Amino acid sequence: MAKSKNGTVFCCSDCGYESAKWMGQCPGCKGWNTFVEEQVDKSPYKAANFSQTSGRARGERTQPSVLSQIEIRPDDRISTGIGELDRVLGGGLVQGSLTLVGGDPGIGKSTLLLQVCRNLSSEGHDVLYISGEESLAQIKMRADRIGQFTDKMLLLCETDLDVISEVIRTRRPEAVVIDSIQTMYSENVSSAPGSVSQVRESTGILLQLAKGLGVSVMIVGHVTKEGTVAGPRVLEHMVDAVLYFEGDRHASYRILRGVKNRFGSTNEIGVFEMRENGLTEVKNASEYMLSGRPEDANGSVVTCTMEGTRPLLVEIQALVCHSNFGIPRRQTTGTDFNRVNLLMAVLEKRSGLQLGSCDAYVNITGGIKVQEPAVDLGIVLAVLSSFKNQAIPRKLAAFGEVGLSGEVRAVSQARQRAAEAEKLGFTSCVVPSVCAAECEKNSGIKIIGVGSVREVIERLF
Ligand code: TYD
Ligand code: MG
Repeated sequence: MAKSKNGTVFCCSDCGYESAKWMGQCPGCKGWNTFVEEQVDKSPYKAANFSQTSGRARGERTQPSVLSQIEIRPDDRISTGIGELDRVLGGGLVQGSLTLVGGDPGIGKSTLLLQVCRNLSSEGHDVLYISGEESLAQIKMRADRIGQFTDKMLLLCETDLDVISEVIRTRRPEAVVIDSIQTMYSENVSSAPGSVSQVRESTGILLQLAKGLGVSVMIVGHVTKEGTVAGPRVLEHMVDAVLYFEGDRHASYRILRGVKNRFGSTNEIGVFEMRENGLTEVKNASEYMLSGRPEDANGSVVTCTMEGTRPLLVEIQALVCHSNFGIPRRQTTGTDFNRVNLLMAVLEKRSGLQLGSCDAYVNITGGIKVQEPAVDLGIVLAVLSSFKNQAIPRKLAAFGEVGLSGEVRAVSQARQRAAEAEKLGFTSCVVPSVCAAECEKNSGIKIIGVGSVREVIERLF
């Protein structure tokens, strides 16, 4: 890598792109203002001398294997004792894997991993929790809130990865937690902890340990909006699984989302609630999302979205009111702003409603973000209900994609969605007419098939 005169390089704090000079926009990820100046490594990058997958150092004799003769041991996964986390991981923690848990500060990453440590250690696994952020006493205080720990669980407050490697090599734990990667440093790299090269080097060392010794390593990574600390984006390529913790820090629910998983499916979510004694699993997420729904209020509709393999009922709220200004105000929370604008334009053009002079606010409650087109019909109904001051029946759910000509289009897994609504006590469900036959198959819920937005208005208002 070319260096500037004073021996530094500029790295993109998001994607790790390196350059000899500062640039406003990163050519790698097109992010703006992400370049930070860093000291160049004293020694060349060592982790590259290690084969990620075979677990052997380069130079060792390796022979190609026949695919059909490779044995898979069924007991390679250990359950974390937290069902929702196991589901996101694809069935449990894989031995020798490197997992990144990302999320905003204070969202509950340390708490979750400490709970994992407790469960693993009480099942008889040796666990090592390494913290570079908190003192032993602070961790003990948190642990006391969470519950009882056995002596299989060891704690270490350390940030020097050479020391950490040594401890892991001698103690040989089955699972290691690193909290957080931004505080770790290696002597091989001269830049400060949290910088791109330091984070990359540290992860390389942990990767070597995980693959070489077969320990499962879980890494905590902070995401900051300012991008001043190296974002875990750099790490995403190196690790086996990436889990993100989402949710409003001020509300009690938390959503754990898998965005990358070499050992299972992605896009699975786990739902948790932060209580005074740590995170508890929310088994029935739909029920949780709908709790506290207002009675017969205008502009409230329940729709069904798919999160991975799991149907999830969410409430959409809309508030449409007359605008005092020339340009109406539109605002969305939890869904795509442009999509809502588009749907309102479709409504105006295809059903002749005067929405152009109205402010509109659309909100998905529960702090969840939905991007799926299947929620279109829900948004349309919520907007209509608020505009016409007419409440949608409380026990009615709706889903379907809305096209530009106002047609209601088919969505995937319609049967499961309708079944989820039925399970939660809904008595009728508005679905795209092409999916109606599929949904009606041995179900007790009343299915209303609609072909266009105009038909929706005729049948419901
Ligand atoms: P923490 O795990 O420290 O977040 P992170 O590691 O992601 O920065 O979580 C901190 C928050 O969780 C803090 O605001 C307090 C709250 N909390 C509880 O509400 N109950 C608990 O039992 C624990 C341990 C934390
Ligand atoms: Mg923490």
